[in-house]
Amino acid sequence: ENHTKEGYPHYLLKEIHEQPESVFRAMGRGGRLLPDFGSALLAGLNLEKRDFFDIKKIHIIAMGTAYYAGELGKFIIEDLARIPVEVSDASEMCGMNPIVDKDTLFVAVSQSGETRDTIAAIQEIQQKGGRVVGLVNTVGSTLARMTDGGVYIHAGSEISVASTKAFSNQVTVLILMALMIGRSRDISLSRGRELVAELKALPGKIQDILDRGSELRNMAEKLKDYQSILYLGRGINYPVALEAALKMKEVSYIHAEAYSAGSLKHGPLALISEEMPSVFICTSGDYQEKTISNIQEVKARGGKVFVISNYKDSNLENLADEIFIVPGSDEAISPLLTIVPCQLLGYYTALALGRDIDQPRNLAKSVTVE
Ligand code: G6P
Repeated sequence: ENHTKEGYPHYLLKEIHEQPESVFRAMGRGGRLLPDFGSALLAGLNLEKRDFFDIKKIHIIAMGTAYYAGELGKFIIEDLARIPVEVSDASEMCGMNPIVDKDTLFVAVSQSGETRDTIAAIQEIQQKGGRVVGLVNTVGSTLARMTDGGVYIHAGSEISVASTKAFSNQVTVLILMALMIGRSRDISLSRGRELVAELKALPGKIQDILDRGSELRNMAEKLKDYQSILYLGRGINYPVALEAALKMKEVSYIHAEAYSAGSLKHGPLALISEEMPSVFICTSGDYQEKTISNIQEVKARGGKVFVISNYKDSNLENLADEIFIVPGSDEAISPLLTIVPCQLLGYYTALALGRDIDQPRNLAKSVTVE
């Protein structure tokens, strides 16, 4: 394969900018969407509608960014399909004795399909007779070949060590899975159609964010001199905060740590000072008011607040030192929008600090050893 940066200074920036197109590929260019039925079809899973009745639990196994995609998958699948989801760090699973039963569907999520710990965990599950499907990017990879069924996420080759478009495609496919299973359970036709329409609108909304990249470059200038940054969010925004903090630390080497905003009072609030800024992911919906009160708590202690939001609100805008507003969407889709400014924030901070952006020190694209 011929890899080029196509005029971009780094693969990371190129891959962030490919996301409108790559998420569309995750939807099979529309072919995985069933607009009339308000549903989705992932034929590679080799699951019949009747099989969905037998699935009592979904257990996602992954590492790194794929693990955080899994955490979002948990939120979205539990919400739309009403099936309990567990997400496991594959490295933690290996030495353990995983519980495997016939009613659980195991889902391995991996960009490379070669991550040593994910493979080892899946081997152990299969050894015990567990049913495993894969959400993999690399065609023909070890995990793609091992699993009983699977879906390629079609992100295309990802060169930057820090994963961006693969993450978005993993989350997109997990949304499709939630929709497909959910529609055979309790999602109505009209809600299903709404979600399909939202998915179709997604590439254009991501493009809208990318077109405003200069705003994030300015925000990065204000973040780059800190030693440490907190990332905070509630509900679906908590896994977004985890992935956003990972992007920041990987490429900028600034210590970035994510917490659920609700746990602020249980420790991290002690860190807040002029020297410790916070990035809040604050979207409209159930958690909005509680998140705003967390922002007030941080402000009251002299902490600078950067906000990624998806609605206009003068109260929030007045509280925030800096705010970036992404297009509004259904809550299930919102992580695919709120993560994009966070990726760019990581990129521009690393750029300002002169880091080795595509090849961060000490890291590898694929961790094939224990
Ligand atoms: C490494 C990479 C990450 C990736 C993780 C899992 O840590 O640097 O970007 O998320 O491995 O890789 P996988 O290929 O299994 O998704």
